[in-house]
Amino acid sequence: MTSSEDGEELPEVRVAPLVLDVEFTEVEEEGLAPPLNAVDEISTARARRPMDLPASLPTPPGRARVVTVTNQKGGVGKTTTVINIAAQLALRDHRVLVVDSDSQGNCATGLGVDKSRVRTTTRDLILNPETAVGSRHATAVDNLHIIVGDRSLIGLEQEMLRQLGRERRMKEALEPLLPHYDIVLIDTPPSLGLVTINALMASDGVLIPVQTEYFALEGLALLAGTIREVRSLLNQNLGVDGVMLTMHAQTLLNQQVAGELLEAFPDLVVKPAIRRNVRLAEAPSHGIPIHLHDPSSAGGQDYQAIATVLERRWGLT
Ligand SMILES: Nc1ncnc2c1ncn2[C@@H]1O[C@H](COP(=O)(O)OP(=O)(O)OP(=O)(O)O)[C@@H](O)[C@H]1O
Ligand SMILES: [Mg+2]
Repeated sequence: MTSSEDGEELPEVRVAPLVLDVEFTEVEEEGLAPPLNAVDEISTARARRPMDLPASLPTPPGRARVVTVTNQKGGVGKTTTVINIAAQLALRDHRVLVVDSDSQGNCATGLGVDKSRVRTTTRDLILNPETAVGSRHATAVDNLHIIVGDRSLIGLEQEMLRQLGRERRMKEALEPLLPHYDIVLIDTPPSLGLVTINALMASDGVLIPVQTEYFALEGLALLAGTIREVRSLLNQNLGVDGVMLTMHAQTLLNQQVAGELLEAFPDLVVKPAIRRNVRLAEAPSHGIPIHLHDPSSAGGQDYQAIATVLERRWGLT
């Protein structure tokens, strides 16, 4: 944010300029390798029961951790989580890249980027991995860049079916960017199609937002199966970084489902639960994350607390 002459706070970036300020020919030496011992919590989670969610590994030194935020169930808070965790971490001086792989393109809107002015998107990234460097755009938040998803992603999975190495496109594309960020968060569509598989293939960890409603556990069983399949066929290092409880309220049903999730995944549930809070739903309409819209709201406080836990899990502290 900047101040105008009359002292009013103005959002700095609304027009999505391309990010071209990073030299990509050399890997910087300092400040890139997260301390490995800081992610002990991740590796202590053990597999259990048929719905096993495999634990993730620490980030290899010298590059960003790549985390896919996914749940094939729609409207559970994936995008809200990506926007607000990314913004919180950027606020704490981590270098953050958001990759939106959903055709709804809500990450751009929520981060103050005008999609109509963006020429290179996640579709280009996947079809032409060499466009990755020029696909990034600045956002309303310092240290936070985005590769925008938009309606051009519709139909992409069909087109990719004809391509060799179709599951590895995103991984290849992101590779040259990784030394220049601390964390890459990939938002996914509400499906387990080829685009989501590309995201999982490119990732170290999976963060799973779960709404504490009926059917939550049923949906997780399907996702757990996909994660195990990707692990055995494509990416043996993939694991789960956390299960987040979203849109949580003090109803009996919410409490019961939260209890079941805690029982099923005691090491993986990231606390606190994100409370249902209208300020979180309002923030995207202003093109800003919750820490700029209303940091002291319940949603603002919960995302701050979650960001602190994840910062530690991801070895960013
Ligand atoms: N904790 C919350 N309290 C109240 N509203 C919320 C909360 N989290 C998200 N929302 C709202 O719920 C709706 C769905 O959230 P969001 O878009 O983040 O879910 P999603 O999983 O990304 O959805 P999709 O599957 O369609 O991509 C949005 O309108 C969002 O603003
Ligand atoms: Mg979404």
